[in-house]
Amino acid sequence: MKIFLVAGARPNFMKIAPIIRAMEGAGGFDWRLVHTGQHYDYAMSQSFFEDLEIPQPHIFLEAGSGTHAEQTSKVMVAFEKVCENEHPDWVLVVGDVNSTLACSVVAKKLGISVAHVEAGLRSFDLSMPEEINRMVTDAISDLFFVTEESGRENLLHEGKSKEKVHFVGHVMVDNLLHQLEKVEAAQDDSFSSAPLKRSLDRYLFLTLHRPSNVDDAKTLAGIVAALNTIAESVPIVFPVHPRTERRLQEFGIELGKGIHQLPPLGFRDSLYLWKDAALVLTDSGGLQEETTALGVPCLTLRDNTERPITCELGTNVLVGNDPEKILDRVQERLNSDREPGQVPPMWDGRAAERIVEVLQGHRRAL
Ligand code: UD1
Repeated sequence: MKIFLVAGARPNFMKIAPIIRAMEGAGGFDWRLVHTGQHYDYAMSQSFFEDLEIPQPHIFLEAGSGTHAEQTSKVMVAFEKVCENEHPDWVLVVGDVNSTLACSVVAKKLGISVAHVEAGLRSFDLSMPEEINRMVTDAISDLFFVTEESGRENLLHEGKSKEKVHFVGHVMVDNLLHQLEKVEAAQDDSFSSAPLKRSLDRYLFLTLHRPSNVDDAKTLAGIVAALNTIAESVPIVFPVHPRTERRLQEFGIELGKGIHQLPPLGFRDSLYLWKDAALVLTDSGGLQEETTALGVPCLTLRDNTERPITCELGTNVLVGNDPEKILDRVQERLNSDREPGQVPPMWDGRAAERIVEVLQGHRRAL
């Protein structure tokens, strides 16, 4: 069975790593790693390959940045050529980035079967590019691997047949648990952020990069004003995504002294910091889930989430991007006792093995 594993942007790399490990463990898969090049900076791509022990990609498409149409079309044109030359039986895509959509559409039009990992999640917010990517990918996929019950329900509601939907847990959590062991076993000084962490008693960990939060000057200024106020009493550690960095400069918005600005961090450096944070503030999809998996309190700077289990069972609370609400909720969370929440069903570190078992069944059917 020849299978292409597609990864393009930072959050994809965490999901692909455990799948590669499980395929290697099971044997019998002729897999090829395709890196679309959607993310290309060392800090956004190569450092993840190193931290997550992902082998060098077999195929690199060099798509790079651009508008949505430019980026998506560059991936599509390059991926089509590769599929026509190599004839994979399956293309496995993960998550909801532009590369996920681009490669699933190309594969399906060439008659190649598509498996979607992290399928069925819905924010029901079509102003998010990721929601469109999720819906299109799920509309044409042949196999769906879901991380939480809501994913299964959404897909069944959209008319998918039960046999194609597999509730397997979350590969992101497989990766997290694997890496957590390594981070806990490592010497403190092996982390670039160790001196900063040692100097801080209690801190918040922040990530911010959603277009809806950073692309509008007024919205970003409001969020930063709230963060600057918070940082006067509790320091904030903030690895800055390139999109956000550009916007801060463009809009002339200044971060206050209590905000420790860092370049984008590798996976382990980032985990080393957020796992011990008093609170995580984020607009990332993955971090909402990872904080739930480790019981770290999380406030999400969005009005909705496609990952409702993190609020129902986990530690996540949605706060949106209104400055006053952010201030209130942060104070509230910092003053309340830490509630670990519950780890969602099947988030046990074995999702990739379950995916591989299902794919083995399909290999026999080929
Ligand atoms: C993409 C995903 C988003 C994911 C995020 C994680 C889509 C629609 N969005 O958003 O779901 O949460 O990745 O990071 O696929 N840039 C660099 N170096 C890089 C990559 C990007 O400097 O290696 C800069 C470029 O200026 C680029 C901008 O960041 O224009 C945005 O990159 P892009 O991949 O378009 O979207 P993200 O905001 O990263």
